[in-house]
Amino acid sequence: MKLARTIAELNLILDPFRAKKANVGFVPTMGALHAGHISLIKLAKAENEMVVCSIFVNPTQFNDPKDLERYPRPIEDDKHMLEAAGCDVLFMPAVKEMYPDGDYSTLKDDFGTLDKVMEGISRPGHFAGMITIVNKLFMAVMPQNAYFGQKDFQQLSIVKNFIEKHTIPIRIIACPIVREADGLAMSSRNRLLNPDERKRAVIISQTLFKVKEMWSKTPVAEIKKFVEDVFTKEGYLKLIYFEIADTQTLQPIAGNAKQAVACIAVFDGKIRLIDNVLLTA
Ligand code: PAF
Repeated sequence: MKLARTIAELNLILDPFRAKKANVGFVPTMGALHAGHISLIKLAKAENEMVVCSIFVNPTQFNDPKDLERYPRPIEDDKHMLEAAGCDVLFMPAVKEMYPDGDYSTLKDDFGTLDKVMEGISRPGHFAGMITIVNKLFMAVMPQNAYFGQKDFQQLSIVKNFIEKHTIPIRIIACPIVREADGLAMSSRNRLLNPDERKRAVIISQTLFKVKEMWSKTPVAEIKKFVEDVFTKEGYLKLIYFEIADTQTLQPIAGNAKQAVACIAVFDGKIRLIDNVLLTA
């Protein structure tokens, strides 16, 4: 696996492949890799001649400075995992490479209703920072295909919307959530949980799976009450939001809909975890 720390180094590696019209598959990450990321790398590997993974902890998408500070950065482990998965190029730029001259300005794109709900309310500025870096990374890598996990369902919707709206010729591939044996959605943040918090975290996916069971026969208001009660009773985990949303518009839905997703965000101690489950096929 080759390592590029600057866009110039990345171009030196990729230009010969671009000249041959080889397909480049791209997996953007913030590192602290887990089996979920590796599933994206493997799919990218199967579908492209060249796979680029970026590791960049993007400061502009963190609305809480403490969250940015504590974000895990186990870079040597990450490199080993990428090598083992067959990644061809690791792009690991410094902050000043992606935000030259200390210019942290973010794109002011209009995502309609997509960023006005859930994470958009709970983490002001997060999506502006996220789309800014995704756009910069897309410009640097210029992939044909880019792979995103469905755990960040709202992020995925916003990236797709951005690509369509600006007619950017990159195919966005949505990849299923990878879960631990007990159901917890894999996340870089899971490694920040202490053993007690890790045990409690299973309640998040268990609750979503129960919601999926209830969905076809229970009114939305009743489902929401059920979820609130689970977390009130549990006491330690703090529910940030639970929403049943239309998968296309991300607007909350009140009744049965053709395409619905249940999304949740929870504080487990100081660690913020999100998860979702599709309620319809
Ligand atoms: O999902 C992530 O890890 C990040 O939001 C991304 C897409 C790499 C942008 O920083």
